[in-house]
Amino acid sequence: MTEAQTLTLIRPDDWHLHLRDGAALPHTVAWSAAQFARAIVMPNLMPPVVDTAQALAYRARILAARPAHSAFEPLMTLYLTDSTPPAEIARAKDSGAVHGVKLYPAGATTNSDSGVTALSRVYPVLEAMQRSGMPLLVHGEVTDTEVDVFDREAVFIERHLDPVRRAFPELKIVLEHITTADAAAWVRAQHGRDARGAPLQGATITAHHLLYSRNALFAGGLRPHYYCLPVLKRARHRAALLDAATSGDARFFLGTDSAPHARAAKESGCGCAGCLTAPHALELYAQAFAERDALPRLEGFASCFGADFYGLPRNAARVTLRREAQRVPDVLPYLGDDGIVPLAAGDSLPWRLLPVA
Ligand code: DOR
Ligand code: ZN
Repeated sequence: MTEAQTLTLIRPDDWHLHLRDGAALPHTVAWSAAQFARAIVMPNLMPPVVDTAQALAYRARILAARPAHSAFEPLMTLYLTDSTPPAEIARAKDSGAVHGVKLYPAGATTNSDSGVTALSRVYPVLEAMQRSGMPLLVHGEVTDTEVDVFDREAVFIERHLDPVRRAFPELKIVLEHITTADAAAWVRAQHGRDARGAPLQGATITAHHLLYSRNALFAGGLRPHYYCLPVLKRARHRAALLDAATSGDARFFLGTDSAPHARAAKESGCGCAGCLTAPHALELYAQAFAERDALPRLEGFASCFGADFYGLPRNAARVTLRREAQRVPDVLPYLGDDGIVPLAAGDSLPWRLLPVA
């Protein structure tokens, strides 16, 4: 039997994305608009997006940066802090533009210094979110430096996520960018559904965590462009993520966590965490699914389950991937002269996304 040369699917969305701000926006928005119809936009700007007014202003800047004729839709989020007022949740909900509230444990990652120092402090906000159906988007890593960096996700689940889930059984929660078998198993153990019948529990999975184990960080030398948080894990965890993503289980959906940092900020004595995957996102996911002979399952993961979780309509348009090798550029234009290095730079990808009309 000859293998299919094209794969057509409902136009996908990215349920976890960093677009940054200012002069970065024309670049980041164009990359994502070429791949996705919509994206959940992370709020970890400097300073962070902490209220609805700021989210609406940020949304307007993103819309203004769209390429001509693009209908790319940014779905905004708020950055949860110790002092977020519970009343902000109703404002966010009523705006129609804010679709989630992001929990960064203080100090967990890039621009997370204003994050939550103790979850108990935000219980009144979580209560308001549970009531209004506003999802909590979780960066699930403990910040305790005593805990081994490869164990921080599993420890977070046990110490913090389990108690939140028990205290708020009806809260919609997305465990973002999961990296371990422990996280996938925890998500699978959550069976709650909301009033629409959608799962109360979701999890995003990045392309890089599906494609690489932590060996990629040290292949022939230190590879800063493979460094992200949560950090890549050992091979058995990658296998568990591939199992989850290709299972057809609607609790697992696409979130690139594409997180641009200019080349000099990555290739440094203290390099920033984040992988740039947006420019080739679907091609990277297709490669991961092909590894499991699971391309027919890509559509659910990339184009259906996230929309269903968030209570948004699935996209009407379709996109096509063609089996045609393409080389990932070594560097792409970005803020400074050095540009930015995309994930898998210099590698050949077996699939190509055909331009969206
Ligand atoms: O690798 C990461 N980069 N992980 C995060 O959680 C944040 C992100 C960023 O904003 O650079
Ligand atoms: Zn992120």
